[in-house]
Amino acid sequence: MEETRKRIIKISKVIQHTTTLCMILFGVIAVIGLGVAFFPYHEDELPSLHNNLVNNANILPLDIVSTFMRDNNYRLQVMLAGIFISLMAMVLLFLICGYKKIFKKIINARTPFTKETAESLRKLSRRALLLVVFSTLMGIIIFLILRLIAYIFEYGAYLQEKADETNRIQEEMIMSFAEITENKSEQTGKHVRRVAEYSRIVALEMGLDEDRANQIRLASTMHDIGKLMIADEILEKPARLTDEEFAEIKKHPGYGGKLLKNVEGDVMRMAKTVALEHHERPDGRGYPEGKTLDKLSIESRIVAVADVYDALTSKRSYKQAWNEKDAYEEILKGKGTQFDEEVVEAFIKAYPKIDNVRQELQG
Ligand SMILES: [Fe+2]
Repeated sequence: MEETRKRIIKISKVIQHTTTLCMILFGVIAVIGLGVAFFPYHEDELPSLHNNLVNNANILPLDIVSTFMRDNNYRLQVMLAGIFISLMAMVLLFLICGYKKIFKKIINARTPFTKETAESLRKLSRRALLLVVFSTLMGIIIFLILRLIAYIFEYGAYLQEKADETNRIQEEMIMSFAEITENKSEQTGKHVRRVAEYSRIVALEMGLDEDRANQIRLASTMHDIGKLMIADEILEKPARLTDEEFAEIKKHPGYGGKLLKNVEGDVMRMAKTVALEHHERPDGRGYPEGKTLDKLSIESRIVAVADVYDALTSKRSYKQAWNEKDAYEEILKGKGTQFDEEVVEAFIKAYPKIDNVRQELQG
């Protein structure tokens, strides 16, 4: 009997140590596995959707989901993550169940074959079964959640593709309109490009994000589209305009607004606003509607400064180009009356960059 007891104690010790070793091994595998599966990828590898819809692209579960939908090879990685999470849960729950206590009881008891030990082992077996069921359920739930999020992201990516396509079409349309306007008026392509670049620089300086600044850059190229409706004789008159002619010229923002009345898409709508408001002033003395600061969009206030600065520093049929320092002073003089204070502040701060663009795009 003593011999049998000793043998059982020995076997129990082996089982206990093996179990502990397995727990440690599972734990280590789970931690390493999770580390590999959740390892954040380089931002370039993430779908562009992240950059537009999710500010924090490094949120780990989102990395998993995005890679899951992008590349089928990562399915394995995601499944492994699920398995490792289940393993981790098993280790923790097995520890909570107190398997060590039961083994200690067997080892320390004088007679290992007791009903109490049998009952403890039965309890442990039930718990083990529960653990298996729980881990499986957890795996299935993780899989379903990931699958659901993957579908959401797939749909998001589809919408993003559509939006990119619309933006591309808008950009092409805008550039075509800008070209037509340039041909019609005496302004050169460089005027349009300079105003666009100045507007983008000022927008960025004001803290607007890169996407918005780029939209303002594009929208600004159509600010004078209403001039298409003005007679060539007035636009190209190499002398000072009469009051009637000037009144006619002043209608171009209104014409621009009408031309773009039914446009769709963010950039085109912004272009319509800019076309309509770029000669308005914060003090309400602008045209065509005499809107005041609180009614003017940020993009129109930005383009207004960019347009006037470029008009002053450019040669026209009826005037010479101003010296850039005088033009700069003129913008400062208009701060709070002709131009929005905030925009002028940004213009001052960003002036070195603006001046660089002026020199690069001269002519
Ligand atoms: Fe204009």
